[in-house]
Amino acid sequence: MSSILVTGIGELTTNVAAQARPDDHRDPTGMLGLVDDAAVVLEGSTIAWVGRASDAPAADTVYDAGGRAVIPGYVDSHSHLVFSGDRAQEFAARMTGEPYSAGGIRTTVAATRAATDEQLTSHVARLVAEMRAQGTTSLEIKSGYGLSVHDEARSLAVARQFTEDTTFLGAHVVPAGTTPEDYVDLVTGPMLTAAAPHARWIDVFCEEGAFDVDQARAILAAGTDNGLRGRLHANQLTYGGGVKLAAELGLVAVDHCTYLADDDVSALADSGTIATLLPGVEFSTRHPYPDARKLIDAGVQVAIASDCNPGSCFTSSMALCIALAVREMRMSPAEALHAATAMGAQALDRDDVGVIAPGKRADLVLLEAPSYLHLAYRPGVPLVAGVWQGGRPVVPGP
Ligand code: NIG
Ligand code: FE
Repeated sequence: MSSILVTGIGELTTNVAAQARPDDHRDPTGMLGLVDDAAVVLEGSTIAWVGRASDAPAADTVYDAGGRAVIPGYVDSHSHLVFSGDRAQEFAARMTGEPYSAGGIRTTVAATRAATDEQLTSHVARLVAEMRAQGTTSLEIKSGYGLSVHDEARSLAVARQFTEDTTFLGAHVVPAGTTPEDYVDLVTGPMLTAAAPHARWIDVFCEEGAFDVDQARAILAAGTDNGLRGRLHANQLTYGGGVKLAAELGLVAVDHCTYLADDDVSALADSGTIATLLPGVEFSTRHPYPDARKLIDAGVQVAIASDCNPGSCFTSSMALCIALAVREMRMSPAEALHAATAMGAQALDRDDVGVIAPGKRADLVLLEAPSYLHLAYRPGVPLVAGVWQGGRPVVPGP
């Protein structure tokens, strides 16, 4: 197995908690485990050694990072990449005053059903490459624009070509031409049977205009009986019972969490369910941002993800999400980077990614910057200078 020594790293984010340094604005609580003048040894697909460059062991090849910062690859724990068409006109209408509505999903369903398997696959491949070029090395992909047995199963089969973390979201909206009762029967019956072999997770859009709490409970229970693990879209557009349901069921993560009452926050703090915030959605729908500060200060674990989808948020940029989390949601730069990497991994119940430590997958992002702080300090600027994914240089460094 060949080894690479990546040395000359000006600032390395490991996500291995270190001693608090209250006077260091980069990481006052030590959550990022920063190492200055660092080096990392990659051996095959995993990380073999991490430490100060002056202590580094020899390796087969040496890459000099030239004083640049290195961070763990982003773990984007929420995306809807299997679709066809776009809804740019709907976005334009929103920017001139139309509200976002869950009903727009049906437009994408029609385009997705009309696409061939090859068209869907090449579209996902293009988006995954776009994400990788921006530093995302692990991702989750949902179905949810097929909404028939055949189209949900093939959406998941397409997604499986790109990630193990595939999520069955047949319960996205009730498609035209059926009743909610009949559709829930379909989702929990034949559609689940066809989807389950291609999925690790099951999700429900629990929202006015989509599925209510009782329907969500029944759908998640059916998924669990079929070997899938639950996650939930909840409290995105209105206050409701979705977040409390996620906490009650002890789900690993509940996503959006935009409209939260005090008892939603305490339920999350008590259950340990991760709140995955998706600030690109609020940016693109003009809804208010979730109250990240209130969640974190109450002891809730927070992740951030892109929610890349053609309707509510068509960004694939985790760096944009970090900048929004810092500027608009009052997360510290350290909290935001941690939420986009280590917490994304936890939201997918993955212990092999999101952290730069021996034994973890060798997913590293080299930044054209001396510090990760530039991700929020220089919003909109493409700062990814190189990416190693599973030890392979998928974006060659300078
Ligand atoms: O996560 N909330 C539900 N699903 C997507 C949006 C889907 C769409 O508008 O096409 C979301 O925001
Ligand atoms: Fe979503």
